[in-house]
Amino acid sequence: MSSGLGKQSRDSFGSKFGVVAAAAGSAVGLGNIWKFPYITGEFGGAAFLFVYLGFILAIGLPIMLSEFIVGRGARRNAFGSFKHLAPGTNWKLVGFLGVGAAFMIQSFYGVVAGWSMRYVELAVEDSFANRSASDIQTLFSSFIEDPVSPLYFQLAFMVLVGAIVIIGVQKGIEQFSKVLMPVLLLIIIYLDIKAVSLEGAKAGLEFLFKPDFSKLTGEGVLSALGHAFFSLSLGMGTLITYGSYIKKDNNLIRTAAQVTAADTIIALLAGVAIFPVVFAMGIEPSSGPGLVFITLPNVFHQIPGGYIFAILFFLLLVIAALTSSISILEVVVAYFSEELKIKRRVATILAVALTSVFGVMCSLSMGIYSDVKIFGYNFFDLLDHIASNILLPLGGMFIALFVGWYLKRNRVAAEINQGGSISDRLLSIFMILVKIVAPLAIGFVFVKGLL
Ligand code: TRP
Repeated sequence: MSSGLGKQSRDSFGSKFGVVAAAAGSAVGLGNIWKFPYITGEFGGAAFLFVYLGFILAIGLPIMLSEFIVGRGARRNAFGSFKHLAPGTNWKLVGFLGVGAAFMIQSFYGVVAGWSMRYVELAVEDSFANRSASDIQTLFSSFIEDPVSPLYFQLAFMVLVGAIVIIGVQKGIEQFSKVLMPVLLLIIIYLDIKAVSLEGAKAGLEFLFKPDFSKLTGEGVLSALGHAFFSLSLGMGTLITYGSYIKKDNNLIRTAAQVTAADTIIALLAGVAIFPVVFAMGIEPSSGPGLVFITLPNVFHQIPGGYIFAILFFLLLVIAALTSSISILEVVVAYFSEELKIKRRVATILAVALTSVFGVMCSLSMGIYSDVKIFGYNFFDLLDHIASNILLPLGGMFIALFVGWYLKRNRVAAEINQGGSISDRLLSIFMILVKIVAPLAIGFVFVKGLL
């Protein structure tokens, strides 16, 4: 999406729908369909979900708006935006957190995208037919534990992302995914209907929607916060860069609200497709990162058209992962090329190569190196934990503080009022959220979750 060619006249998104589509393309990804259900399962269901939704509204949405304000105000990438708006200060260092987070996320993201590619192949081979729930679990675990075969898929995905960024066809991909994501949504809705009508589905829905707050741990709350950032693509400057392409006649509040709503709805619908199956098939809700891969194949082979839907579902999941991954890689590439002055093509190759090496380590930590634990996490979970639960919320906290205390009310109002409008009251609420509520809440959750 970003041309990265700072001196060239900056492109803007052509239509208003274009911005929403690109930002939603970044937001909707493996986070919604793979990560959200599995961490909701790990942290006990509905109580986690409600905390997550609270964070989305009170922290995610205002920070998304903040990123748009900064990006559209400065018309530069994350680093450049801080330098431009706050020259001579250390605010630009927030950009570093983002690059670190992007590096880590890209590393494990490629692994899971690779799993999804393998599942396209399995679906084409009709491999889910006539298998019991436990066979389907074994199919997954023996695949990810294999030291070699997941690597082919992971590397293929990484090369694909790199090639798209080098050839500069991100916009094309986004146009394409603008049409395809609604198809993914329809398939998920179809799966929802089928899942809800399974015998035993009710227990799954209760798990997802009937909260028992006594199950909530500090770590669960921290993960809910981290996932709010992860899922909305916040905290590392991605949406600052996207914001820099938004036209001045675009209503930033509406755009932020639409992207947040789309992202949240897709995650919820994915949860509704998965948890009834978990309970109907006697799968553990806390089965971990394989949850989507060990539940849905049980449904596909029982429903009309399941063969085709399985192929389409995993294919569209790969495409959703692709549009997200492009936006993650972009953060690293922009840093290498614009700050370290490495040629953009070389920067892309370097970023892909380095994150692939880390990705290989993530993949191996699922199998042969699963015993190697750092702070109790395998390498894959360690990168996810540091990036999602520490770096992104920290980055988001600084972005909120920047907008609240550095840009201040008048500049914020001026930016929002271009293409939109905000009442005094709403502006006051927003300012309180970014100045005080979000930073304090993030700080508090850190203390509770990390200590
Ligand atoms: N939001 C994406 C997902 O849910 C992942 C992602 C893309 C991301 N860009 C990001 C996460 C920027 C954090 C920051 O899959």
